[in-house]
Amino acid sequence: MLEIKICVGSSCHLKGSYNVINEFQHLIEEKALHDKIDIKATFCMKQCQKNGVAVEVNNEIFGVLPEAAEEFFKNVILPKV
Ligand code: FES
Repeated sequence: MLEIKICVGSSCHLKGSYNVINEFQHLIEEKALHDKIDIKATFCMKQCQKNGVAVEVNNEIFGVLPEAAEEFFKNVILPKV
């Protein structure tokens, strides 16, 4: 199971955490990956300076903008599933 943590702290919230979560959930549903990917919301990961919402995948933290969430899912998350 691949665990993805998405920051919903105040800074990331303003950058669109919920849009990123919605996009990921939509893609997981579309590709029937429920049993392979687990999404969790988390509080501030001390990565507020990143350009985008802090998203942790396999202990690596990325900055993901809502408009780039689908691309991120395809390029970074899918290869790890
Ligand atoms: S609010 Fe998301 S890393 Fe700080």
